Amino acid sequence: TGKFTFDPGYTSTASCESKITFIDGDEGILLYRGFPIDELAEQSDFIETAYLLLHGELPSMSELKNFRSNITYHTMVHEHFKGFMDGFRRDAHPMAVMCGAVGALSAFYHDSTDISNPDHREISTHRMIAKMPTIAAMAYKYNIGQPFIHPLNDLHYTENFLRMCFAVPAEEWKINKVCAGALDKIFILHMDHEQNASTSTVRLAGSSGANPFAAIAAGIACLWGPAHGGANEAALRMLMQIGTVDKIPEYIARAKDKSDPFRLMGFGHRVYKNFDPRAKVMKKACHEVLEALDIKDPLFDVAKELERIALEDEYFVEKKLYPNIDFYSGITLRALGFPTEMFTALFALARTVGWIAQWSEMLEDPNQKIGRPRQIYTGAAKRSFVPLAQR
Ligand code: CMC
Repeated sequence: TGKFTFDPGYTSTASCESKITFIDGDEGILLYRGFPIDELAEQSDFIETAYLLLHGELPSMSELKNFRSNITYHTMVHEHFKGFMDGFRRDAHPMAVMCGAVGALSAFYHDSTDISNPDHREISTHRMIAKMPTIAAMAYKYNIGQPFIHPLNDLHYTENFLRMCFAVPAEEWKINKVCAGALDKIFILHMDHEQNASTSTVRLAGSSGANPFAAIAAGIACLWGPAHGGANEAALRMLMQIGTVDKIPEYIARAKDKSDPFRLMGFGHRVYKNFDPRAKVMKKACHEVLEALDIKDPLFDVAKELERIALEDEYFVEKKLYPNIDFYSGITLRALGFPTEMFTALFALARTVGWIAQWSEMLEDPNQKIGRPRQIYTGAAKRSFVPLAQR
């Protein structure tokens, strides 16, 4: 392969040093700044964990209070931004809206464009985390033809998001604490995952010195695909397609058939080859939500049975394929009232914290360089141009 190491899909290339997230795929360990993901999901909340990812330590009471008010200060979007939203087709996929709308934020905030200035980076970070729920909720409301609901800063981050999605001006809206708590947990689970495709995209886009909103928009575009963030949507669609427990063997057989492109969505992971620690917390959260809302979802039974059968099947055991975070998240989000099209937008909302933490870490690195992979050229050798009349 000549001068360069050839590593398609970067399965064995470390692209950076990072202090943010640690994964041991063989042991099924995921730590944010050293803290186990299950402890954070059970005991922390979105804003506190976001502070931890960004600053490296858990906040004191006053640091947390300060951080919360910095975030809530920026929850609104510019009124002209609504005009921008109007340009989308009514039935636009929320991820299409998110790509465009988040990129467009770079056109609204000209007071923080100097990325070499830590104060500018901080204000962009606060804006990004604060405005993602507002924009995701706007994408949803636009899609279903309801009026946008303004943020309410007295509410907790996730409660505010649920309100912006599900409240209507005609009625009083009541918080369901169990739902808000479960969604908060789901957001923590999705917050960062070291150098996955979308995070690497944000780093690569940001490495050229691009505006942070544009770099995050690049991450959203990458996250959209079904092999990455789009898997939660794909996993639920698959469960709906399977429909009943008796159809499971047919789909297991299809997943094993190399001539069939079908894969079990929500199964397998590039790094986790034992179990996905996020999937365990997710399955529990799914139980809690279904129980609290008294929902009997037959797809939950299909999912549990599919998991059971696959985990006993030689093909899946041999290839170390386990349920990943997306396997149970779809059922939970559906129970919370979100349509399938919103699933990946919710993932993007949560992952924004990881993206922006990684972007900041990259820019703080004194050895930071523009990302520029090389290639192994396999095209034609040098040859002379042939004029059109002679071809
Ligand atoms: N169903 C059936 N076979 C599978 C599956 C699956 N879900 N996943 C992997 N395989 C097989 C694959 O065919 C291959 O077989 P062989 O060695 O015979 O060619 C082997 O397992 C290794 O697969 P790979 O595609 O080379 O592995 P990868 O590390 O490149 O891919 C993955 C990882 C997550 C893209 C893949 O497992 C997959 O497509 N899963 C379904 C989509 C999904 O759930 N994605 C969410 C990932 S977690 C959330 C996130 O990070 O965004």
